[in-house]
Amino acid sequence: MQARLKKTVVLVGMMGAGKTAVGKAVAGMLHAPFLDSDAEIEKAANMTIPEIFERDGEPFFRIKERQIISRLLEREKGVLSTGGGAYMAAENREIISKEGVAVWLNADLDLLWHRVRHKDTRPLLRVPDPLGALTRLYNERVPIYAKADLSVVSEPGLSIDEMAKRVIEALK
Ligand code: S3P
Repeated sequence: MQARLKKTVVLVGMMGAGKTAVGKAVAGMLHAPFLDSDAEIEKAANMTIPEIFERDGEPFFRIKERQIISRLLEREKGVLSTGGGAYMAAENREIISKEGVAVWLNADLDLLWHRVRHKDTRPLLRVPDPLGALTRLYNERVPIYAKADLSVVSEPGLSIDEMAKRVIEALK
């Protein structure tokens, strides 16, 4: 049986915060559909995110991201994991606050770096100084993520299920 959520639970936060893994676990626990904006963008373009950035550039990716997020939010209620930059756009924040509850998965920079440093799937970190790039994004974005309705701290050592339970607790 699927839960009838009144609003979509929208996970926001930096790359490496665990939005996808925790989002899937939250959706499983709530028996609600799991939605993932990055995965939907890749499906629609039939390309990976790095390929989209490389071929069409970040501004094009952001347009697609906006379209997909509004479509997903209008389509059905569930748990939506967004890409790390999605919440930066005022238009996205507007539709998210209308149709959903924004939950910031708040992880500190050390933990984020530990999780992303060996992965090559993030175009914004494919630069000579990826830690510098992550640090800049972190400092720019934290004040915006802090506008989310709820914030859940992601600590090292917490399992995905424990994080998911924290999210569900915060929603009560
Ligand atoms: C981005 C984060 C990525 C993806 C794209 C841009 C960002 O998603 O949307 O590479 O701007 O932080 P994750 O947060 O799932 O890594």
